[in-house]
Amino acid sequence: MKREVVKIVNGFKFLPGRAYLEGLDDREYQSFKAFYDAQVKPDPYAAVRDRAMIKIVYERISGKIRLNPNQSYFQSYGANDTDGGRVRVFPPVDKAILGNRVFNHVFQCDTAYINEYCDRVGKHDVNISVHFIRYKADKGGASFSSPVWLHLDDEPLVFIHLVQLTDNAIGADSVISEMDSKPTNVLRLSAPFDTLIVDRAKKHAVTPLGSNEGTAYRDVMLINLEAEVQQQ
Ligand SMILES: [Fe+2]
Repeated sequence: MKREVVKIVNGFKFLPGRAYLEGLDDREYQSFKAFYDAQVKPDPYAAVRDRAMIKIVYERISGKIRLNPNQSYFQSYGANDTDGGRVRVFPPVDKAILGNRVFNHVFQCDTAYINEYCDRVGKHDVNISVHFIRYKADKGGASFSSPVWLHLDDEPLVFIHLVQLTDNAIGADSVISEMDSKPTNVLRLSAPFDTLIVDRAKKHAVTPLGSNEGTAYRDVMLINLEAEVQQQ
């Protein structure tokens, strides 16, 4: 008997971008990149990044997504000692994303994991924050993540989708560790829609981004399942 594939992340899971791109053509990918580009604005809390965010609600019975009336983002201090413990408001992602074919395609791929998690904990509707985060660095400079090193997020499940990593980028490697913060795995999201899924069973980080020449960019789209502690 064929065993059913159970979508449990248990720390981290890498999925190649080609799995996400199946069913999409290059024109659609390029148009999503252009959409992303038009959304990101300087991060009001950090000059080394550009950002945008939208919060949505995923209704599991209908399988539909809708806009969340609350568009501010909260992390606990325990999850982020740089920016946690306060509410942050980011430049908005246009709500046209709700009807965007590439976004819906990617989100649909993620729902296998989201549904598994929600079934396990008995959750019906789920609040999700979608973050566009652009790391950008000139030659000799640096861009970095918040928090900057190994951590656990408040979110029980986070999908880190690479939109693009430019060829001149150095650094920007994903790092995984157990709770002792000693790295056990290093990997790199490099191809379009290469994806790292993380949960709270292991810590994760991304190393700072630098540039070999000119300005380097690492564009990611995070799809985060929000935790109860973040509902404020
Ligand atoms: Fe994180």
